[in-house]
Amino acid sequence: MPEAVVAITGASGARYGVRLLDALCEAGWSTHLIITREGAINLNLECGITPEELASNSLITLEDNDNLAARSASGSARFDAYIVCPSSGTTIGKIAAGISDNLATRSALVAMKERRKLILVPRESPYATPHLRAMANLSEWGVVILPASPGFYNKPESIEDLVDFVVARILDQLNIDHNLGRRWTGDEIGSQ
Ligand SMILES: Cc1cc2nc3c(=O)[nH]c(=O)nc-3n(C[C@H](O)[C@H](O)[C@H](O)COP(=O)(O)O)c2cc1C
Repeated sequence: MPEAVVAITGASGARYGVRLLDALCEAGWSTHLIITREGAINLNLECGITPEELASNSLITLEDNDNLAARSASGSARFDAYIVCPSSGTTIGKIAAGISDNLATRSALVAMKERRKLILVPRESPYATPHLRAMANLSEWGVVILPASPGFYNKPESIEDLVDFVVARILDQLNIDHNLGRRWTGDEIGSQ
């Protein structure tokens, strides 16, 4: 069974992480879930749920962000992908600086040192220059920077459509088949 580490940090957009977990469970992936303190605040504010409620699926293991002895803190424990969704600028800055002071940042740095798939989903507007520089560095070092910036060419009709657009791009990165939104065919412009 493929295994992912998913961290929900303190950026707005907790529902991107919630939807991603749904999709990973549906695809049969097991997930080790880390939620930072501000991540939990936003999860409650935006989705009205607690970390424990989010982790109610048996495929999800809720980890303690302060536990640097958890499985994902070690490179010897192999995971197929590490995703920070949403990712705060603070977490991005720490990862780019090599700071692994909690399980979310430590797991991300494990992914980098082991040359494994690491996807960061930033949500901020506008971006501060240190975060932009950090993202440029991370991208050059092989990290996928996948901003929570849904496209509108599929004519979204709901917030769910917008969330699905971003989660679909994450699933594409993981080579997971999905039906989240239509794919661009190239025929759309002529058929207007
Ligand atoms: C309600 C709320 C919304 C926030 N929204 C964002 C945001 O959209 N993007 C961001 O980078 N930081 C945002 N922050 C700030 C981060 O939560 C803060 O930098 C925190 O230290 C991040 O720590 P973490 O990455 O360990 O969760 C928000 C904070 C709160 C309380």
